[in-house]
Amino acid sequence: MTKKVAVIGYPVKHSLSPFLHGYWLKKYNIDGEYGLLEVKPEDLKGTLARLESDGYVGCNLTIPHKEEAYRILGNNTGITAHSVGAVNTIYMQYGELWGSNSDVYGFVQNILNSHSDFDFTKGKAVVLGAGGAARAVVCGLIGEKVPEIIIVNRTVEKAEKVKEDLLKISDHVDGWEDNSDIKVVHWDERNEIVKDANILVNTTSLGMKGQPELDISLENIPKNALVNDIVYNPLETKLLKNAMEHGNFVVDGLGMLLYQAVAGFEMWFGIKPEVTEDLREHVLSQMK
Ligand code: ATR
Repeated sequence: MTKKVAVIGYPVKHSLSPFLHGYWLKKYNIDGEYGLLEVKPEDLKGTLARLESDGYVGCNLTIPHKEEAYRILGNNTGITAHSVGAVNTIYMQYGELWGSNSDVYGFVQNILNSHSDFDFTKGKAVVLGAGGAARAVVCGLIGEKVPEIIIVNRTVEKAEKVKEDLLKISDHVDGWEDNSDIKVVHWDERNEIVKDANILVNTTSLGMKGQPELDISLENIPKNALVNDIVYNPLETKLLKNAMEHGNFVVDGLGMLLYQAVAGFEMWFGIKPEVTEDLREHVLSQMK
């Protein structure tokens, strides 16, 4: 029987997930379908309740459903979903829906696959932003045992909340406790705080097509630090361009999107798909 999966969003037309999963379904010759479901917020609960009887083996969630899906699934969520407070991947387990957040895996794998010798434990990580994407990134950094994580945000209270939530959760996870010291600083300190950084990650929307540029000086950042932008449209953001000129290693944001999809595909279809240059080109061609 054809295995059906879809991305649920509102709106959802812009989603790149069908191209991405469609590419792998064809490549691995799997009897599967990956479609789009446009679902209004008030209809999400009902749609999820009917998911299995409608013939789906799982789904992805995108804007604006990730946080609500986490609330709906309650205890049927894993540690990554708890940390981020959002679910982006749903699959069936023991006849029930389960939710996870594969952005955490996507962030870490994107870095490690771009720079296999990158050592997260070597020093300080600076994270710009404190939204949902920042939560996934900080969660990934804690998991990789980064000794010091600095969250830089315009609204300090929001960053403090991310810190509080993630420290609370890390207390309950083996191997996480006492590993990462998390600090919060105001946005105005961004140019100085990158001094001694081992990795800098932009999780804000700044630099994205249609958004203001991210204004940050890289004068103080060590030349051997890695700079990652999770923005992937445009692929080469001003931050990455400046970092390259400064001599830093850079990692663009497209890989996070591709690697987060690996986790879902493997759960639904039983094959761990490969992220290749050809796949990147395929997805990029849909963005033009
Ligand atoms: P997501 O959940 O996708 O990460 P979000 O919750 O809207 O998105 O978060 C966007 C991030 O970009 C926030 O950290 C936001 O800062 P605030 O918490 O102060 O709002 C940050 N951001 C957006 N526009 C910004 C700007 N002009 N200057 C500084 N930070 C900005």
